[in-house]
Amino acid sequence: MPASNAPAPLNPDGSRRTFMKQAGGILGLALAPPFISQAERLTALSKKLEGVSTINLNVNGTLRSIRAEPRVTLLDALREYLDLTGSKKGCDHGQCGACTVLVDGRRVNSCLTLAVMSQGKEITTIEGLAKGDELHPMQAAFLKHDGFQCGYCTPGQIMSAVACVNEGHAGSEAEVREWMSGNICRCSAYPNITAAILDAKGQMGKG
Ligand code: FES
Ligand code: FES
Repeated sequence: MPASNAPAPLNPDGSRRTFMKQAGGILGLALAPPFISQAERLTALSKKLEGVSTINLNVNGTLRSIRAEPRVTLLDALREYLDLTGSKKGCDHGQCGACTVLVDGRRVNSCLTLAVMSQGKEITTIEGLAKGDELHPMQAAFLKHDGFQCGYCTPGQIMSAVACVNEGHAGSEAEVREWMSGNICRCSAYPNITAAILDAKGQMGKG
């Protein structure tokens, strides 16, 4: 039990993410030039906030509001503002598919989509796929077929796979490979990913 006058722990919930946020903030303070006056800081802050507005996002069936600049991507809105970290940032350039989410049922690279553009649309992330404890058939098939190794690409692969099946582009192994080609797996789990998609297709009533 820590002494009552002991300082609060640096990362109370013990998570690496919280620690990195706190460490970054402390580092920023330490590196701030001492010669900038408070007034100058406030002016700089207000300039930075000028473009900030409220962005309303319907994520996984829940309306969420954030205050952010219009340049904030959907991926950063999900990960940095809403703490929905299932969608991954692989390349941040639209090249790997790790950030794939569904917007009105269509797969998009959330790193190339602005959050403001996604207002009024239904956004589904990997966190919204299961129904309570019941996995989506695609998630269950990835488990069954070992469709992942390190797992970094997996949320994007699964979201893309769900759309691939719903689009009617999972008719054969070759077709799945073609229509899943925007999702890169550095572990090269492709044969198992393809097997999982073809298996899940039947469970999704698209067989
Ligand atoms: S992080 Fe979006 S495509 Fe790579
Ligand atoms: S499972 Fe490691 S990158 Fe795909």
